[in-house]
Amino acid sequence: MSVKDVYEEMKAKLSNVVPDVELHLKAELVYEINKLKEAKNAVILGHNYMEPALFHTIPDFKGDSLYLSRMAAETDKDIIVFCGVRFMAETAKILNPQRRVLLPAEEAGCSLAASITADDVRQLKARFPGVPVVTYVNTYADVKAESDICCTSSNAAAVVESLKSDIVIFLPDEYLARNVARDTGKHIIFPYLDDSINSDAVGLDYQMIGWRGRCEVHEKFTVQDIQDIRLQYTDVVILSHPECSLEVVEASDFAGSTSAMIKFVEETEAPRYLLLTECAMGDNIAATNPEKEMLRLCRVRCPHMNEITLEDTLQSLQDEKYVIEVPEDVRELAVRAVERMIAIG
Ligand code: 13P
Ligand code: SF4
Repeated sequence: MSVKDVYEEMKAKLSNVVPDVELHLKAELVYEINKLKEAKNAVILGHNYMEPALFHTIPDFKGDSLYLSRMAAETDKDIIVFCGVRFMAETAKILNPQRRVLLPAEEAGCSLAASITADDVRQLKARFPGVPVVTYVNTYADVKAESDICCTSSNAAAVVESLKSDIVIFLPDEYLARNVARDTGKHIIFPYLDDSINSDAVGLDYQMIGWRGRCEVHEKFTVQDIQDIRLQYTDVVILSHPECSLEVVEASDFAGSTSAMIKFVEETEAPRYLLLTECAMGDNIAATNPEKEMLRLCRVRCPHMNEITLEDTLQSLQDEKYVIEVPEDVRELAVRAVERMIAIG
């Protein structure tokens, strides 16, 4: 396939969301990346939040965190290039340690992963001995290593219920925890708000223990945003990610993982929709669903996902950087929590 062929393919898919001059430049990068990917026996995984010209071109597999973890575990390629953020690349390394895992931009972090340390988890476990720990995959390897099981936004309630425990610790996203507590009929407490709360506290009725992490993107959406849009467009379908607040999720028509939202838009007969999530994903969906109108409330791009560009991905393959390493003692503990989650689905 020549650069011109790549450009024509990109134009057919993306001309409604990417300006033509950009398509020309990006087609050359896509061509080079695909050539190198082949030569180096690499696989590229792309999260749903990648910008459209990257998302619709170079990934061999694209999807939400859960799907990409599964693909990372199964690949037999020598190199995994993770077009996503650091915790995702780390999860790939945890699951498939013989492969070289590359993250194209060193700074691609996550406010949720940064909100909690392994020491925080150890302190909570000491405060609530014997209570199983569920950790969102949006955490670093040493935090996963302190956990009994991981979850993603697409299986969080199923993971909590699978434990059949009277109480669970659920870390680190406050909003996802509140949404899961509602879905599973549990009462949640946040002991970081009150130092006196521990497992001996008398008269406290709780089945979930949460933490203070927030996604810096999803915490920005408000119920007022929803009310304003519904006033203007009575037939709009509103979708939110469960990292949004409980109130926002309750005021939406649907809440689910990034892939669940994509599927919903593909299947709905509603003429217009609004996504309360990272805005690049909106462009990706708009590109493949031109017959439906996407309303834009898009003021929030995840700054970490935004670090990953086609230029960086080419450089990453050329120089084989940034290599993700997880110490083997940490990996051995973390892999149990991640594999236990994958077994649940
Ligand atoms: P998904 O698991 O739904 O893809 O979400 C990952 C994420 O980081 C959302 O902000
Ligand atoms: Fe983290 Fe939020 Fe960005 Fe997802 S959107 S990677 S949760 S900061």
